[in-house]
Amino acid sequence: MLVANRLPFRRIDAGTETTWIPSPGGLVSALAPSMADTGRLAWVGWAGDIDEGTTPGTVLSAEVVVDGATLYPVPIDAEEKRLHYDGMSNGTLWPLYHDKISPPEFHRRWYDGYRRVNQRFAEAAATVAAPDSIVWVHDYQLQLVPGMVRELRPDLRIGYFLHIPFPPEELFVQLPWRQTLTAGILGSDLVGFQTPDGAANFSRLAAALGLAARHNKSTLELESGRRVQVRAFPIGIDSERYDEGARSHQVTDATRDLRARLGQPHIVLLGVDRLDYTKGIDVRLRAFKELLADGRLHPSQVTMVQVAEPSRDAVDAYVSLRGQVEQLVSEINGDFGRVGFPVVHYVHRSQSHESLLSLYRAADVMLVTPFRDGMNLVAKEYVATRYDETGMLVLSEFAGAAHQLKSAVLVNPYDIEGVKNAIVEAVEMAPDEVRRRMRSMRRAVKKNDAAAWARSFLDSMPAQAQPALG
Ligand code: F6P
Repeated sequence: MLVANRLPFRRIDAGTETTWIPSPGGLVSALAPSMADTGRLAWVGWAGDIDEGTTPGTVLSAEVVVDGATLYPVPIDAEEKRLHYDGMSNGTLWPLYHDKISPPEFHRRWYDGYRRVNQRFAEAAATVAAPDSIVWVHDYQLQLVPGMVRELRPDLRIGYFLHIPFPPEELFVQLPWRQTLTAGILGSDLVGFQTPDGAANFSRLAAALGLAARHNKSTLELESGRRVQVRAFPIGIDSERYDEGARSHQVTDATRDLRARLGQPHIVLLGVDRLDYTKGIDVRLRAFKELLADGRLHPSQVTMVQVAEPSRDAVDAYVSLRGQVEQLVSEINGDFGRVGFPVVHYVHRSQSHESLLSLYRAADVMLVTPFRDGMNLVAKEYVATRYDETGMLVLSEFAGAAHQLKSAVLVNPYDIEGVKNAIVEAVEMAPDEVRRRMRSMRRAVKKNDAAAWARSFLDSMPAQAQPALG
């Protein structure tokens, strides 16, 4: 059973009718396909809406089956969303874990709300998990859940995977709740991170906080004698779905139409991100603007498309980022566009899978420039659609994906000259070199796909529950 903040589908209530639409986010797209074939997928999570009508003490709304997955929605009211999701998850933990790119805020009320919501998720999971089964908890919104589930159901085996970076000890210890948040994760039998650095940071922290009596390469031994395995499991995508979809006639036709609508530019640059300050959307826009101003790229030949999916719009930092990005887009178009021919095409809406595929296929150069990113699945999705081994990826060194996609043009997003040079290098790269690099990236994406990732995590779970040692 999976426990994640978001269910793979979002509930839309329109009067008497309820529909479920796919949820945003990498977690969902990585997990849904790989888990679906391991039997009936069961998922405890938030339906993405506000539930004000639930009787106090209710931990689950009615279960529902959508596309073969059994969903167990955990009711969340408006105040809980404000404290748990907007507050502690995305106003404290998210910025802290991403190198404090935006300053994290520490509020006791946020933490209290976070603890209450985590307790509800844990009770929901404990209510529906089959005896002796595996409960796999996901991500920073639910760090207390493994410990809480262990208290409630010692018969279960508990896995925890963090999809975002785990920060160095010096940053983490700023949290007033560092002890309980670490102990919460240590309720697991197996803890997974995107990179070996994340795993090492966590092991060091657990020892420094006195929560692990002993630790070696990948095992922590707690005071109680219980063991917790800690390892990197870099997440993948359902690469076959992207590869096959990209080859379809519909996508081929849509790609041709798209390039025509863009005015048949010589080169299309593309960015696809949630509108998040970690993603470095502003950096690549600034780099593009300077390249046009320097005359190293020409507006008649190069067009940029930036898709910025709406995200976390109740959090101040996201509201101000939107202003900055939109200001930059309009400056570039004002300075370098012509009537009917903007140089940056900006879309602030989420895209269907099919339109994403045609965007990836239309792009000669994909720009993925986060300041810090757990993995970045967009980079892998782009590579998976390049079945003809064309197209180049400019990728931040600080994305987890850089560990697997070493043949990309790697950049430090804090070095604007470096980003400019990387874009020009990718634009001008000789076709043979592009082919060689893309072939090697495609091998990596295919080999480490979402199914392999889920299998390797689940195969590393202990065969049976450890005795109740705490
Ligand atoms: O990968 C990090 C993550 O927060 C996931 O947990 C989530 O599915 C995705 O990004 C989208 O974020 P949100 O659920 O806040 O829209």
